[in-house]
Amino acid sequence: MKINDIQTIGVAGAGQMGAGIACVAAVSGFAVILYDITEELALKGVTYINGVLSRDVTKGKITQDAMQNILERVRATNMFEALAQADFVVEAATENQDIKLKIFKDLDAMCRPHVICATNTSSIPIGRIAAVTKRPDKVIGMHFMNPVPVMKLVEIIRALPTSQETFDITRELALKLGKTPAEACDYPGFISNRILMPMINEAIYSLYEGVGTRESLDTVMTLGMNHPMGPLALADLIGLDTCLAIMETLYDGFKDSKYRPCPLLRRYVESGWLGRKTGKGFYDYT
Ligand code: CAA
Repeated sequence: MKINDIQTIGVAGAGQMGAGIACVAAVSGFAVILYDITEELALKGVTYINGVLSRDVTKGKITQDAMQNILERVRATNMFEALAQADFVVEAATENQDIKLKIFKDLDAMCRPHVICATNTSSIPIGRIAAVTKRPDKVIGMHFMNPVPVMKLVEIIRALPTSQETFDITRELALKLGKTPAEACDYPGFISNRILMPMINEAIYSLYEGVGTRESLDTVMTLGMNHPMGPLALADLIGLDTCLAIMETLYDGFKDSKYRPCPLLRRYVESGWLGRKTGKGFYDYT
């Protein structure tokens, strides 16, 4: 298997991460199969891509014709079997272990034997996902950042059984997608979320304990530390359910109380206040 053998990329999950990955893949010249469980969800992914490309047309970055060509490379579907045609698959389903393990079992049964199956998980151990397949050497973490079309980083995570060939091809693919790869080991949270998420959790604790208002907390981090967004606004962008899932993974994985999720974060998630995607999180988006 060589990088040039990859012509078609399959993306399982058409949420904000999956649609973003499909978008950069199509922009980079790949054919894309974008799968989600319902036609409506798959088409929502295409609407996201449309929005990103339309902004680029308005800014004069691409022509209307180029946008049309990019969109024609994306095939949205609710037929899981369509992913069997992909030369490389990225799973970007919701951050739920049971769902991801089921998808990997099904992908393994269906994809051709040489196909690499990557996961965009932000925290579930890659080794655990690899272990449910008969191709553990071809399972790898390919962790994109949100918003995918803008963020340059792809964290590439090797599990113990991941082969060197799988790593090399995934790295080359990340470069072809215009991203900068950084390698991480398969420990809870990898690099990105081991550092980012405790900071966000601490900001939520600071709000919970009344150290500052949400505005003052975010202002300290944007103007004081030059972060592009404050941690509470960023948590809303990532999704509070995802933030909680990552904190639970860190806490379970290290059994260290410093990773305990803030009760306020749990309370928001239990109330369905998940951030931008539900219109309400630490801020109101309605
Ligand atoms: N999708 C696509 N493009 C977007 C976008 C989106 N959701 N949001 C903004 N953009 C684009 C804009 O179109 C604009 O493009 P141009 O430069 O071509 O004009 C560019 O991004 C800048 O946007 P804005 O001027 O509107 O706003 P901004 O300068 O405040 O930038 C931001 C917005 C890029 C989101 C910036 O605030 C930022 O970098 N925030 C931090 C994001 C971050 O930390 N992401 C990582 C999250 S962690 C993660 O994803 C991993 C995990 O496992 C949890």
